[in-house]
Amino acid sequence: MRSFELFLPTRLIYGADCLEKLSSATAAYGRKALVLYGGGSVVRSGLLDRVKAALPGVECVDFAGIEPNPRIESVRRAVKVCRDESVDFIVAVGGGSVLDASKAIAAGFYYDGDAWDLVLDHSKIGRALPIFAVLTLAATGSEYDGAGVITNEATQEKLHLGAPNLFPVASFCDPSVSTTVPAWHTAAGAADIVSHVFEQYFVSETNEVSDGFCEAVLRAVVHNAPKAVADPNDLDARSALMLASSFGCCGLLAVGNSPSPWPCHGIEHEISAFHDVTHGAGLAVITPHWMRYTLNAETAPKFAQLGVNVFGLDPKAGVEANARKAIECTAEFFASIGLPRTLAELKVTDEHFEEMAEHVEKFWYPLANAFRPIDRAGVLEILRASL
Ligand code: NZQ
Ligand code: ZN
Repeated sequence: MRSFELFLPTRLIYGADCLEKLSSATAAYGRKALVLYGGGSVVRSGLLDRVKAALPGVECVDFAGIEPNPRIESVRRAVKVCRDESVDFIVAVGGGSVLDASKAIAAGFYYDGDAWDLVLDHSKIGRALPIFAVLTLAATGSEYDGAGVITNEATQEKLHLGAPNLFPVASFCDPSVSTTVPAWHTAAGAADIVSHVFEQYFVSETNEVSDGFCEAVLRAVVHNAPKAVADPNDLDARSALMLASSFGCCGLLAVGNSPSPWPCHGIEHEISAFHDVTHGAGLAVITPHWMRYTLNAETAPKFAQLGVNVFGLDPKAGVEANARKAIECTAEFFASIGLPRTLAELKVTDEHFEEMAEHVEKFWYPLANAFRPIDRAGVLEILRASL
């Protein structure tokens, strides 16, 4: 087992009554909040009103319109509002995009320069406004990590920023809030969670404990995503997905493992940067192709382990057969919940593939450390196979 440090400073508050704790959780942080949200789902559902009602005595300054794949322009505008209004903290009400934007805004508030600098150079992140997250969609795990992903349309870059002080102070997670998430985003969120687990599970060194965490989360998603897609009001399914979201990206699943460069995420962020696709849908296409690219004699036992422990394959079928079958089970799972099999279905062409591969090489973690090392030609091979 490798040495590791697990740092999870966020108070994770789950349950239908979680908003009752919002006021006491924010009490020590001031009396004026930026309330950040997206395109209006939280207005329509009445959640925004419930959040404000749960903050008596706090002056709320609204900032609406954070886009899926949040843009740096929105971050810049929100930083200005925070400064003009001298807010004390941020309440981010939404999915990963709103929560991610809140992290860039929180750090941008104290940075004397353009917030995009913080994305390009994490060492410039200093103090940050306290963040309180009210989660509405099970997917990214942004409610329980210190990272955010921001898009710069002008440069066609989608990059992450991260720092220990960008973890939310507290995250409020009521799975019933996610019953209004449409089937497409429910499925995309499930694919995102699966990918987060794969990115940590498929590395050269793992251990029985981390593998067990990963497989438990995967089984929960494979079991419950079809239920939530079929019946949006299935609260047990929504609860399992939300819990899987929170633990999918926080580092717990990788304890003691060798590090991973998260190859599918590196490639998918490029697709989103150029084509503004839904993150989880892009991952659903890329992931099976990455698996096929990665499968070889050395990696087959782990793919077979996935097949046996998550998809219920018979170990007697042997490693090679089960490894191949596990990859097809993964592809079928994504398709069964309504996600695309090809980039063409997402209206992605091969026009920017060369630039994407170049960006992955330039900005992402070294893919030479992937489960099967990937070079620039390998990224292109995976992209072309995904078309
Ligand atoms: O904008 P509104 O109107 O709120 O609608 C949103 C949006 O259109 C809707 N939605 C959210 N909650 C809802 C709801 N609709 C009805 N009822 C609800 N309860 O869903 C749509 C998608 O929302 P978004 O926040 O974009 O989805 P998601 O949570 O999947 O976030 C995706 C973003 O997170 C980044 C992705 O790259 C992408 O930009 N990621 C962040 C990570 C992190 N912080 O660690 C890791 C991930 O790997 C990922 O890269
Ligand atoms: Zn993701």
